[in-house]
Amino acid sequence: MKRTKYLFLSAILVLAVGCSPKKAGTIGADASVESRVEALLSQMTLAEKIGQMNQVSAGGDVAGYAEAVRKGQVGSILNEVDPVKLNEFQRLAVEESRLGIPILVGRDVIHGFHTVFPIPLGLAATFDPALVECGARIAALEATSQGVRWTFSPMLDIARDPRWGRIAEGSGEDTYLDSRMAVAMVRGYQGTELDSTSMAACVKHFVGYGAAEGGRDYNSTFLTERQLRNIYLPPFEAAIKAGAMTLMTSFNDNDGVPSTGNAFVLKQVLRDEWGFDGLVVTDWNSMGEMINHGFGEDRKDVAEKAVNAGVDMDMMTFGFLSHLEELVKSGAVKESTIDNAVRNILRVKILLGLFENPYVDVEAAKAVQYAPEHLAAAQKTAEESAILLKNDGILPLRGKGRILVTGPLADAPYEQLGTWAFDGQKEHSVTPLKALQERFPGQVNFVPGLMYSREKRQNFNDVVAAARAADVVLAFLGEEAILSGEAHSLADLNLMGSQSDLLAALKATGKPVVAVIMAGRPLTIERDLPNVDALLYSFHPGTMGGPALANLLTGEANPSGKTPVTFLRTVGQAPLYYNHNMTGRPYNGETLLEDIEEGAAQTSLGNTSYYLDYGAYPLFPFGFGLSYTTFAYSQPSLDKTEYGVNDKIKISFTLSNAGKYKGTEVAQVYVRDLVGSLTRPVKELKYFERVELNPGESRDLTFELPVSDLAFFGLDGEKKVEAGAFHLWVAGNSNTGEPVHFSVK
Ligand code: GLC
Repeated sequence: MKRTKYLFLSAILVLAVGCSPKKAGTIGADASVESRVEALLSQMTLAEKIGQMNQVSAGGDVAGYAEAVRKGQVGSILNEVDPVKLNEFQRLAVEESRLGIPILVGRDVIHGFHTVFPIPLGLAATFDPALVECGARIAALEATSQGVRWTFSPMLDIARDPRWGRIAEGSGEDTYLDSRMAVAMVRGYQGTELDSTSMAACVKHFVGYGAAEGGRDYNSTFLTERQLRNIYLPPFEAAIKAGAMTLMTSFNDNDGVPSTGNAFVLKQVLRDEWGFDGLVVTDWNSMGEMINHGFGEDRKDVAEKAVNAGVDMDMMTFGFLSHLEELVKSGAVKESTIDNAVRNILRVKILLGLFENPYVDVEAAKAVQYAPEHLAAAQKTAEESAILLKNDGILPLRGKGRILVTGPLADAPYEQLGTWAFDGQKEHSVTPLKALQERFPGQVNFVPGLMYSREKRQNFNDVVAAARAADVVLAFLGEEAILSGEAHSLADLNLMGSQSDLLAALKATGKPVVAVIMAGRPLTIERDLPNVDALLYSFHPGTMGGPALANLLTGEANPSGKTPVTFLRTVGQAPLYYNHNMTGRPYNGETLLEDIEEGAAQTSLGNTSYYLDYGAYPLFPFGFGLSYTTFAYSQPSLDKTEYGVNDKIKISFTLSNAGKYKGTEVAQVYVRDLVGSLTRPVKELKYFERVELNPGESRDLTFELPVSDLAFFGLDGEKKVEAGAFHLWVAGNSNTGEPVHFSVK
């Protein structure tokens, strides 16, 4: 109890301190930086310039790369985080190379460094950008103290297909939510005015990677320019406007062009339209993979294509190091192109202060890792990221009686960290079992039933007997961490192994069963719902998942998470997302398989866009999440019925807490553009805000929505708000509420 209380108090401290929410320094904003860039560039040989464009994965191998560093052939390294080794790498570069240019050290700090936060899909489920910014700031403090000054995060890939394993790494299906989270993470990583705790953000994977056909990772995408501009590009633009210093190209080919060779997105959009003057790095060997794509003959060819398309740095193809010099000499690549790439690299290194501070204090770094206030913030984030999907009243636990804890994720300190938690150490994880044993000494009996999420068992006699002797059963289920993330797409999204059988066996005992699912994606859990009395969904919650879940189960924390992705009834519905187009035959819930008589004559039954066997409604819609209390929304009212394009819409409504627990609701504003030069989504999230209310409290709220936020790229390719009629909802999820109407003239 003492530890949890201490962490709780520290959480308040962290949140009270906040994350110095000032805008991060913008790239290239300072003339002195540019003069330093030019002064250095003018001293560099062509070979030294090309060396800056080379990034190597140098984990553990200082000696192996020492000569290359001395020759100025290593502009950046990744996958080394030991501060002693990083200091040695920097010493070699700064003191033993001709120009002493420090190395830019990168790492996948995706949802925390040592202190692991919920996976990014869980961060999105908080709908709490301020808290997510705090977490990113903490990740930067821990990582930069050890010498890591560049993270390959945030991942901004819109994901509408849960078969795609990397849905775990992004902010889900919605462009607006993704954009809010993107800005929060960039500001958190890079901090206020750039200083030694700033870690350059890297927005990735540019662009459209999450639209991989069939949800199979690395697969081709076929996005039109309109889809790119209206759905996939806006989060990147928001992040770059917020000062993101770097960007990573994606593995996929879109409409036949691999992103690493796509001058349209890398030059016209990124540089010419958005004015980005940061650094563009490839994904791991994504330049070399353009040979596999059939987009280049060999490494020399793809190196030429990549650099001429706008790539500045090559991660692990060695195409630049091997071929750029001859390409320049042959005229296939202009030296001015090389100069621009090196300017972007030097600018980031200068802005990060690497020339002044290439080294770190190894001893001081130790005290930063897993600091109590970091753990407290991770716990708070894990609490806010959990989504209550069902509760027949068993939660919150009354705390009395015998508790059976079971399931493969009850005591799985590594699995709860989730995907891309390279530097999280499982020894620091507090599991749900440990937290519950601390919370309820002598009341908890642990019978795992399954040792890991894919285990198959014939019977559960031991667990069933234990359940019969308990007053309540807590089953922790879901996915091992390895089952989501890169290259880990799934064609079947049901709970794996015998987990559903375990729930059925527990249900048969007649005891109340609470399921907690930890996973890297929204699984198809419709068949499990009847076997549980309550269900809490926690996208791999990180180091402090245990205490967070214990607080939620006991009511010390009230669930407030909302689904950042649609939960399907069956994988056959994929892709299914809330902001879809109306179509000419919108589904209205009619005519399903069981309505069809035997031998029915041939008719076009249904006549709408749906599945005979599963309809077209999800199990849980985007933005959905229950609370221990209930929230009631008045019908919103608008200050006008007609607006100009430069107006702001004042949306007023009353939100009430009609239950007996204090709780936080994520009030969401959705808008539909009824008629456009293009068909428009049935609704789109345009604003959200977390509102905490005491039991019985009602609050009059007014949100302001700029009409300009309704702009989109229309038939003429221009981004603007089109005149006409609109509907607007204020609700607790994407599938509820009655709209109010307004028009734009
Ligand atoms: C991986 C991932 C990318 C990551 C990079 C470095 O293949 O696609 O997201 O940042 O390589 O680890």
